[in-house]
Amino acid sequence: MYDLTIIIPTFKEESNIGTIILEVDTVLSRNAINGEILVVDDNSPDRTIEIVRNLKKSKPNLNLIVRKEDPGLSQSVVEGFRQAQSDVFLVMDADLSHPTALITVMLEGIHAGNDLVIGSRYMEGGGIKKWPLKRRIISMGATFLGRFLFPEIHDPVSGFFAVKKSVVEHAPLRPRGYKILLEVLGKGTWQKAKEIPFEFVDRATGSSKLGGRTIIEYAEQVIDNARFSWNHHESIIWQEWVKLFKFGAVGLSGIIVNEGILIYLKGYVQLSLPVASIIAIELSILSNFILNDTWTFRTGQQHAMPHWWERLLSFQVVSIGGAAINFVILNALAAFTGVDYRVANILGILIAFSWNFWVNRRVTWKKSE
Ligand code: GDD
Ligand code: MN
Repeated sequence: MYDLTIIIPTFKEESNIGTIILEVDTVLSRNAINGEILVVDDNSPDRTIEIVRNLKKSKPNLNLIVRKEDPGLSQSVVEGFRQAQSDVFLVMDADLSHPTALITVMLEGIHAGNDLVIGSRYMEGGGIKKWPLKRRIISMGATFLGRFLFPEIHDPVSGFFAVKKSVVEHAPLRPRGYKILLEVLGKGTWQKAKEIPFEFVDRATGSSKLGGRTIIEYAEQVIDNARFSWNHHESIIWQEWVKLFKFGAVGLSGIIVNEGILIYLKGYVQLSLPVASIIAIELSILSNFILNDTWTFRTGQQHAMPHWWERLLSFQVVSIGGAAINFVILNALAAFTGVDYRVANILGILIAFSWNFWVNRRVTWKKSE
């Protein structure tokens, strides 16, 4: 048994595999970590396997799995999870894109009680070196989609992460494509995750095998994970659904508040319609805020905006933005397309609702880090 298993998936990495193994091994021995290095190769036709076998002669902690069926990066990582001889796994690429210097930091994060420690490119201190524009755009799209499921996580598609065995042990993972981390986040059993920024350095030699097919697989994977949570209420994604439902329920309650106050102020107090309506709108925004603050987004944790009045101000601004979105969509569709104004309004409401939820979730009620 080891204290840590470094899982390195490989396919045609003859130019990098020797270097990465030596680098990892140096980190392990310098820090007196009893670690296993597990290379999971998809039967590479180049010299990758031969190089690992040769190194293995002098390194008893180096192990190799050669897979012959169902090739794929994610599948290989999951095979690594199955055969690893420790309770902590750290997944990293072979092409020197991930800094081995962070191995100790990530392991410390696990020992500090995190179920997952993620090497993140998309947070302060992190970044990407030498990526073509096209690759950057694809990656940002993937990250954006992933953040719908995990709003707290900056880089849910990173290929560099450490995870406790207990997180993935019983998880019904359906590995495919490149984004194994998303699958682990969606289906694994975990509570606490931490991110550590790092700078991704694109490979100097060899080539990435990420292609058009990967993008489609990824979209399927996102949908599959969202669906999975629907009947697995212990999953982290389910907690997002719950917030969305609550936020929707609060929105509906706001309609009743708005209408009730309007009737009262116009009919009984006999204020003019514009004045009554402004007050009714504002009071419904306030009641929505109170319900969302004390119910929808109530957590044990600190908010990034610690004072209630900061959150109120933010919510107020977002609500005005939402109303503007509703207004513009309704009027633009009605004026420039043949869409019936009633249908246009429903569309406007839905888009404004999505905006309200998304921005409030990510800004107003963001958790502090
Ligand atoms: N076993 C196996 N099978 N390994 C593979 C396969 C495969 O089919 N395809 C790629 N690998 C290995 C590579 O040899 C390398 O060690 C690692 O997986 C990453 O492959 P790259 O092709 O270099 O990936 P990338 O640089 O485009 O993507 C990286 O960044 C993404 C985030 O943008 C990876 O870390 C991805 O996992 C990550 O999502
Ligand atoms: Mn790479």
